[in-house]
Amino acid sequence: MIDYSERIPNNVDLASDKTLQRALERWQPAFQNWWSDTGPVNTKDLQVYLRTAISVERDGWANFGYVRMPDYRWGIFLVPRDESRKIAFGDHQGEAAWQDVPGEYRSTLRRIIVTQGDTEPASVEQQKKLGLTAPSLYDMRNLFQVNVEEGRHLWAMVYLLHRYFGRDGREEAEFLLERRSGHADNPRILGAFNEATPHWLSFFMFAFFTDRDGKFQLASLAESGFDPLSRTCRFMLTEEAHHLFVGESGIARTIQRTCEVMKEHGITDPAEGRQFGVIDLNTMQRFINFHYSVTLDLYGSDVSSNAATYYTTGLKGRYEESKQNDDHKLTSQEYTVHEVVDGKVVEKNVPALNALNAKLRDDYIKEVQGGLDRWNRIPEKLGIPFRFALPHVGFHRKIGTMAGQFISPDGGVTTETEWNSHRDEWLPTNGDHQYVESLMGRVLEPGKFANWIAAPARGINNQPIEFEYVRFN
Ligand SMILES: [Fe+2]
Ligand SMILES: [Fe+2]
Repeated sequence: MIDYSERIPNNVDLASDKTLQRALERWQPAFQNWWSDTGPVNTKDLQVYLRTAISVERDGWANFGYVRMPDYRWGIFLVPRDESRKIAFGDHQGEAAWQDVPGEYRSTLRRIIVTQGDTEPASVEQQKKLGLTAPSLYDMRNLFQVNVEEGRHLWAMVYLLHRYFGRDGREEAEFLLERRSGHADNPRILGAFNEATPHWLSFFMFAFFTDRDGKFQLASLAESGFDPLSRTCRFMLTEEAHHLFVGESGIARTIQRTCEVMKEHGITDPAEGRQFGVIDLNTMQRFINFHYSVTLDLYGSDVSSNAATYYTTGLKGRYEESKQNDDHKLTSQEYTVHEVVDGKVVEKNVPALNALNAKLRDDYIKEVQGGLDRWNRIPEKLGIPFRFALPHVGFHRKIGTMAGQFISPDGGVTTETEWNSHRDEWLPTNGDHQYVESLMGRVLEPGKFANWIAAPARGINNQPIEFEYVRFN
């Protein structure tokens, strides 16, 4: 169980380490200031039907009830320690998982934790104004649930920094509250976390595509030989599942509504629908192209000696490491990556150890494709001929072997001029953003939804759809 009588709720027996407790209690007001400065705007007085972790056990960790947002109990929750846990891969395979940071890996491990930690507050900053234009109380509640949990993920990483990295860990924890998404001088570390999330279509796309990168990063860090990191990531993954649901179902409901309107009016052209106040399918495809490509960049270079080092040293494993049927050392295997040679995308085999970023990204792509397949059942059911497709992995990339190339969504290598002449067909335009923003208006009546989005199939925690998920007093 989690101790909620503490100032900082936790299940790591914080009270037994007074120095650590005091350091975190000093960071806590800075976190709260950050939340009120850059977290969801105008939410101080709202009561939101949120889930709060009360136990990290498999069943029933989630407790639902109305919470005033600033009173949310952010805390430190790790899954229980497995005393027999062994490192599953790399040079230390078979050794007992580390309960402390090995000195030789200290700075690398700190960088991994800081990079992960930096994404958590970034997404809260990106989404701070969305509550003002929520298409329903149900959606507003889901947004705030995601926001408070991303705040908690920041706590999760800050706990590791304070507990295991001493003074420089505490400094990094402060910097995590100082960088700002999209800031010219002090931006967040990773590109996708500096992009704006100006409206709900972007938010749903972000939660589907970019939160899922989070899932894959956390899953590979859950394999880490550094046991406290593994344990904290495993608990974060249980929260992440809801974020992915919010994204996938949000897009599905948007598609559903558009397809219903198309059917009603006999429309088959995917560029149409705006005259009826819904988001046309072509526009949604352009947003898919954008969010997918900027998220692929988060995996880093296809061929990476850093990724190889993280693996051999046991700091970061593969997605579902234990399910991989090999020696878990990757000394002789190869992996196929893509590059452009003489104006064509070609395959190239490289040592699997150096291609771990590409491997993780490819695992991610498989899951994303599954989501698109589910979305495509919606137009199929309603007799609309359109189907969504993922653009080629090389489309619109800034990092990796495809960076600097001009690849079309179907994988053709083009010139800069040609690519630019199609840009507005392939990526969201200012006009697309303006149109989507023009649809955004707050809907506050319980059970009612904005015209551009369908109601969900069911409510949260078995509550009805017309439940009052947010109270304004
Ligand atoms: Fe997160
Ligand atoms: Fe998330």
